[in-house]
Amino acid sequence: MPLSQRSTLTQFLIEERRRFPDASGDFNALILDVALACKAIARSVAFGALGNVLGNHGGGDSVNVQGETQKKLDVISNEMFLRANEWGGHLAGMASEEMDGPYNIPRQFPRGKYLLVFDPLDGSSNIDVNVSVGSVFSILRAPQAVIDSGRDVTAEDFLQPGAQQMAAGYALYGPTTMMVLTVGTGVHGFTLDPNLGEFKLTHHNIQVPPDTQEFAINASNSRFWEAPVKRYVDECLAGRSGPRGKDFNMRWIASMVAEAHRILMRGGVFLYPRDTKDATKPGRLRLLYEANPIAMVMEQAGGRASTGRAPVLGVQPTGLHQRIGLVFGSRHEVERIERYHAEPVAVKDDTPLFAERSLFRDCVA
Ligand code: AHG
Ligand code: MN
Ligand code: MN
Repeated sequence: MPLSQRSTLTQFLIEERRRFPDASGDFNALILDVALACKAIARSVAFGALGNVLGNHGGGDSVNVQGETQKKLDVISNEMFLRANEWGGHLAGMASEEMDGPYNIPRQFPRGKYLLVFDPLDGSSNIDVNVSVGSVFSILRAPQAVIDSGRDVTAEDFLQPGAQQMAAGYALYGPTTMMVLTVGTGVHGFTLDPNLGEFKLTHHNIQVPPDTQEFAINASNSRFWEAPVKRYVDECLAGRSGPRGKDFNMRWIASMVAEAHRILMRGGVFLYPRDTKDATKPGRLRLLYEANPIAMVMEQAGGRASTGRAPVLGVQPTGLHQRIGLVFGSRHEVERIERYHAEPVAVKDDTPLFAERSLFRDCVA
């Protein structure tokens, strides 16, 4: 297609902004800085072993605040996000999977009204085996007191429900590099044109099909699953002869971004539910920089995102690195999984008093 017929990310953002004549342009500039970070990460990822970027950071001794071994590229990608976004004057602060606490904008730069939260490299356990990875980001408005005073940010400033996100999205470093973005007006996908180094609009107004026959879950955790998840997966596995009356396919990439992208393209459901594996971890994925941005993208694309018990976007965060159960994708499947969590569980018991009871009704998230 000739250059003139596909809009670049910059052109798309300018045209969106024309609908808000009072907008300062800060927001667009911020998204373009995020896009620049993603392009830089895409280049590093593409060089792989040639760029000396594979393997563990610090010889394997380096762990992040969640106790996970940091890959070299986790640390490089985090730096790229910081450098691309700290100087522009749009941000009051940043937070990331790879930093214990909030990052304050250095004093030599102006401070702005937004907060940027990110997972600089999602699925990084896949990086050494040349499988797709991604970056996830979420943009919040800083509390008014922070904007007015220009004070340093605290973790509390970031603890806003996902419904308050101004924008969210991800970059996927796969066979092509893509950026998928929502600013609250649907979900749009941009493919990086390697000749121009520009993201170009290739997927306008993406919609998640409401029904699916494909699910994604790490089945090695099945012994730790709660009853509603077991039931859902068992019914999928039973296929045509089971209660669902149709065969299901299963996929597990272990890069949430890649799974989210597949689901945006052709439907499906992803589950990393709360389980009983480790009582200190209510779920695997992190609320602020994994679940919330993907939830906003899914809901803006007509899909759904839930903890199993409640919509993700309504959850009031309590910690920067808080983990949560996450189910997202095709709307009817996510609603079914929520129904299974809400329904009373039939327990075989001789005592009539306990013949039917709900194990889950009182749980919120
Ligand atoms: P990260 O690399 O940012 O720590 O995230 C990895 C996440 C997510 O991408 C994926 O869905 C999940 O962890 C994989 O979990 P398993 O290790 O259980 O497969
Ligand atoms: Mn991640
Ligand atoms: Mn990560």
